[in-house]
Amino acid sequence: MNRTEHWEHVYRTKAVDTVSWYQAEPTLSLAIIAEVAPSRDARIIDVGAGASRLTDALLSRGYEHLTVLDISEAALEVSRARLGDAAAPVTWIAADVLEVTLAPSAYDVWHDRAVFHFLTDAADRARYVQQLCTALRAGGYAIVATFADDGPLRCSGLETCRYSDIALVAEFGEAFELVASHREEHTTPSGGVQAFTYVVLRMR
Ligand SMILES: C[S@@+](CC[C@H](N)C(=O)[O-])C[C@H]1O[C@@H](n2cnc3c(N)ncnc32)[C@H](O)[C@@H]1O
Repeated sequence: MNRTEHWEHVYRTKAVDTVSWYQAEPTLSLAIIAEVAPSRDARIIDVGAGASRLTDALLSRGYEHLTVLDISEAALEVSRARLGDAAAPVTWIAADVLEVTLAPSAYDVWHDRAVFHFLTDAADRARYVQQLCTALRAGGYAIVATFADDGPLRCSGLETCRYSDIALVAEFGEAFELVASHREEHTTPSGGVQAFTYVVLRMR
């Protein structure tokens, strides 16, 4: 199974509130976004959003320029069905973040929870950073959350990389400065605990 088939299978066979990464409310992401992008005009992309409720929460807070990208069309369908008419102003992109063409400087905020850590190949990570550098405006913020250095080694049957905040920042190079980092202990629907590292990066 390739990457697209893997994730399509996940979202077509599992209820979205049973997967290990499910959050009823993405509290930390919302708090960070409120801090770095208080203006409701902010252009925000959630990369590898899956069926996350971050979009619902941002819409209810009045954010107007939202883009939701995921490699799985099925995941996006779940979110669109849940949102109903509220989904209309959102831009939905079913694509691999490593391959999609993103407009230059199109976003003020790039949010990724639990996607970058699946990139176990250095060339894929370099490609991801290239995509980010294209799509984010200078002075914009990237919020990237991965498994922490004591987090899980696998997720959804796939190997993951684990990061301390220092190690995660280093992946993004000189083009970014670290604004803040956070540790989150995420409780999965089955009651397990997964440690995450969040970094907030500003593109110079
Ligand atoms: C662990 S889930 C996290 C979902 C969501 N960010 C959240 O916090 O609930 C990883 C997501 O990344 C998506 N994904 C994996 N690789 C991707 C890629 N190369 N491009 C875009 N999306 C990808 C998967 O379909 C899945 O929805």
